[in-house]
Amino acid sequence: MRILVIIGGLSKNSINKKLFELIKPLAPKDFEFDSYDISLLPFYSQDIETDLPNVVMEFKKKVSASDGVIFITPEYNRSMPGVLKNAVDWCSRPYGAGLWNKKPSAVLGASPGPIGTFAAQTDLKKILSFLVL
Ligand SMILES: Cc1cc2nc3c(=O)[nH]c(=O)nc-3n(C[C@H](O)[C@H](O)[C@H](O)COP(=O)(O)O)c2cc1C
Repeated sequence: MRILVIIGGLSKNSINKKLFELIKPLAPKDFEFDSYDISLLPFYSQDIETDLPNVVMEFKKKVSASDGVIFITPEYNRSMPGVLKNAVDWCSRPYGAGLWNKKPSAVLGASPGPIGTFAAQTDLKKILSFLVL
């Protein structure tokens, strides 16, 4: 199983990157993890949708080639970071041919705050439940 891991925390010491390192050894032996640095993606714009930058094509290829995706999200102001929403938006287009369609996905996250990443995860799951059907 090729699993793409998309992490919304960009900092060197991101606790969400650390969370991934913690869960990695718990995965079944046939899981192969791949990742992508979503900070490389430009902001989504319909103007460049027809002439995709290479970084976007590379990201889309990784999403397409994966059997499933694990999203690991920090919580920013009771939602997910913009950089993660931007990555989700890129692969949701063109309309009707989005790559999240039928893609198995899981959501988790870490935060030092009292509600963990409950609000961020809820927002992300709401979006994915619209896109994965
Ligand atoms: C702009 C901003 C907004 C934040 N908002 C929340 C929040 O709503 N809830 C929360 O639990 N933590 C919040 N935090 C704290 C983050 O959970 C904390 O910085 C965490 O370490 C970020 O994840 P990372 O280390 O993987 O980047 C916020 C941090 C930033 C920078």
